[in-house]
Amino acid sequence: MYSLPEPAHFASYRGFCFMNLDPNAVGLEEYLAGAKIILDFISDQTDVGMEIVGGCQEYGFGANWKLLCENSIDGYHGQPTHASYFDYLLSTHGSFGDAKSQLSRAIDLGNGHATIEYGAPWGRPVAQAVPSWGEDGKRDTEEVFARLERRVGRDVAERIAYNNRNTLIFPNLVINDIMAITIRTFYPVAPGRLKVNAWALAPMEESPAMRERRLFNFLEFLGPGGFATPDDAEALEACQRGYENSDIDGIGWNDISKGALSDRPTSQDEEQMRCFWREWSRRMEGEVG
Ligand SMILES: [Fe+2]
Repeated sequence: MYSLPEPAHFASYRGFCFMNLDPNAVGLEEYLAGAKIILDFISDQTDVGMEIVGGCQEYGFGANWKLLCENSIDGYHGQPTHASYFDYLLSTHGSFGDAKSQLSRAIDLGNGHATIEYGAPWGRPVAQAVPSWGEDGKRDTEEVFARLERRVGRDVAERIAYNNRNTLIFPNLVINDIMAITIRTFYPVAPGRLKVNAWALAPMEESPAMRERRLFNFLEFLGPGGFATPDDAEALEACQRGYENSDIDGIGWNDISKGALSDRPTSQDEEQMRCFWREWSRRMEGEVG
């Protein structure tokens, strides 16, 4: 009716649907490469399927869109930039510092995709309770974990339940499986300005009480008025202003060399950002840095 062109490719993986307008593009699974396991870990959180909860959050701010690529998978900025959130967790026993997992790593997933995986210091609806959820929350979480374990076995269940994964699928799809799950994509709408669309993802069969905890977590940290998003928007706008004035001292680039000499980069390093930029460089300049 609106004469929209049909995409050259349309495919899905574990319920995630993708389209591509480029007839010469590789197939979806080849493109996703190592990122498939991240989608597996999401899809395995349910017996019946995941659903988008409610509507879409839309917001924007004044920064180059690639700054949000870096920010979305940056583990290093969390504590200093979102200190008020961590203070709040401590003061309400939403918890911080007694994570069941001490894992901390950055993983190159291929084709510019990358994730950081690290022990969750907060409550996760799948499936890590915190004191502020009370005895009911503890019991509900044990039930969720038991179903998860039946589905994927003990080892994978613990990896899914106790670890966060902040993932970037090149170039602009973010899936952050943290205190809730957000799917986020973003586009440049002008030089130095981006627009974000974000959705909350949850298991369809989730109990009303656990869904309430999930959405509280989601809005509290990830919502546009939450503890994190305004901090990040302010920080990235400040970075953008800095780059725009960088002729003064000649520094027009961002240093992301942290952990570059390590053969086991952690979530506090910057290997995951370098994965993005190596692919960016390969595509834009025909070379791999
Ligand atoms: Fe942040």
